[in-house]
Amino acid sequence: MSDRDDATGGGFGYEETDGYGDEEGLSVSGAARPGSSPSPFGGERHPDPCSLVIFGVTGDLTHRKLIPALYDLGCHGVLPFGTTLVGYGRQELSDDDFRALMRQAIDDHYGAEVVDGALCDRILETPRYVQGQFDDADGYRRLGAALEELDGEGGRGNRMFYLATPPSQFPAIVGQLGAAGLARVGAYDAEHAAGKPVAGWTRLVVEKPFGRDLATAHDLNTIIAGVLDERQVYRIDHYLAKETVQNLLVLRFANGIFEPVWNRRYVDFVEITAAETLGVEHRGPYYEEAGALRDMITPHLIQLFSLVAMEPPVAFGADAVRDEKLKVLRAVRPIPSQSVSDWAVRAQYVQGVIAGESVPAYRAEERVATDSSTETYAALKLLVDNWRWQGVPFYLRTGKRLARRVTEIAIHFKRPPVLLFRDAEAGGGLQPNVLVLRVQPDEGFSLTIESKKPGHAVALQPVAMDYSYGVTLHELPFSAYETVLVDAMEGDMTLFTRGDQAEEAWRIVGPVLEAWAAKPERDSPIYEAGSWGPEAADALIARDGHTWRRPLKADDA
Ligand code: BG6
Repeated sequence: MSDRDDATGGGFGYEETDGYGDEEGLSVSGAARPGSSPSPFGGERHPDPCSLVIFGVTGDLTHRKLIPALYDLGCHGVLPFGTTLVGYGRQELSDDDFRALMRQAIDDHYGAEVVDGALCDRILETPRYVQGQFDDADGYRRLGAALEELDGEGGRGNRMFYLATPPSQFPAIVGQLGAAGLARVGAYDAEHAAGKPVAGWTRLVVEKPFGRDLATAHDLNTIIAGVLDERQVYRIDHYLAKETVQNLLVLRFANGIFEPVWNRRYVDFVEITAAETLGVEHRGPYYEEAGALRDMITPHLIQLFSLVAMEPPVAFGADAVRDEKLKVLRAVRPIPSQSVSDWAVRAQYVQGVIAGESVPAYRAEERVATDSSTETYAALKLLVDNWRWQGVPFYLRTGKRLARRVTEIAIHFKRPPVLLFRDAEAGGGLQPNVLVLRVQPDEGFSLTIESKKPGHAVALQPVAMDYSYGVTLHELPFSAYETVLVDAMEGDMTLFTRGDQAEEAWRIVGPVLEAWAAKPERDSPIYEAGSWGPEAADALIARDGHTWRRPLKADDA
């Protein structure tokens, strides 16, 4: 029994899970916003009502992310009237139990005292719960009957199946949806032909991780393709829904000054960092299986890389953007299996100090093997064999228990080819320009440029031209989860990973996964919690004459 098992007072509750989907970072806003506040979607979003079928309703992901996100969308008047929650799970629950459980999730997240009860009643007006095992055909027949009843009500026949279970259940659920005739193909084409929403769509939303290597991702794609059209499948990567990540496309393609220098002639190297201060917390069993390469690099950082490196799409639409991302992923030079250590570094944290507090080693974390060889840090070097990027290294790194929580993309430009300031340089050295896109926290971007220090002598100093979202927008519009939910309800696939992209990302990391699996390094390498990672990662980038940035907060710059 987990702590929350009896939280609702009845004989039901949240399952003890493996912590899947229980990431701190996927936060929806911590405070309930008043129902009257203007929609952050600016009134431009028109998601369709639907029956939202959640698999894994008693799990942490539903409790901590999905339901609070739905409530916040309700607060902004964005959740369409007629949307009905349908839970499918293994526990015996009545519809009322289910409603109470969802209400509990909202209260837990925002605090019962500030939650708008009338709004909750509206969102949870007629929830349905269907009990069944994930591989039990009868359960899916009952689910089908419940959905048919609801089709006649507000959802207009639209159905969204959301897989919020541990990934091992995905194949069974998809297969059963197909066998029960619930995976209806069709409305998508009609919808696009008509240029407007057509009632009766079916969509599948799949959480990460999508497989654990190329073979398993391919198998899962094949199972899905056996029952649904790719255009009905929404593979979530919440990183793509982060505001600054979306802004990257605008920055690159809506400004005249960046794209002309966005290539090997001007760019020296690119760093993509996702550093966390958190450890694995209670997600031990999941993380032991995953490790940093599978958990962060393959799904998130490779996606960020593809946005930075892709060619301009012909339109800002799902197909055009995803085609370009796929092209650049395909242009990534295969990592040679015989020299993986020149391209990739792994390490695990040992005891250290973060924000003045001593934190335990990874091997001492809850439900982690005391001799675990799972990496909690991974760094990867990628080269892209195309006209734009030939010879420009992209370095990706991520780690838990690092010195600071920061996700950023840094584009390092080449030094100017002039000797003019040789003397002036002597003081501090001429710093090449760096464009930093701060994904989180302190969302925004800054460009460092050299400038003359005031005074008689010609001395140089770098200054930053900085844009911070926090200054112009007092509140960030929405969480990544709210964005992906609304996009899926609207049928906008731009931020979702296509099946071929998911496989391509696994192809890129494949040689590293194989080399690491063949040689689990029990005694190596390590890094102290609270540091910036292992020395081997410094060496990886130093071999090319570069050093990692030590990211600062905007106001420290
Ligand atoms: C998840 C990973 O996908 O992303 C977690 O499974 C990680 O391990 C999380 O903590 C980070 O998300 P964010 O939004 O905080 O960067």
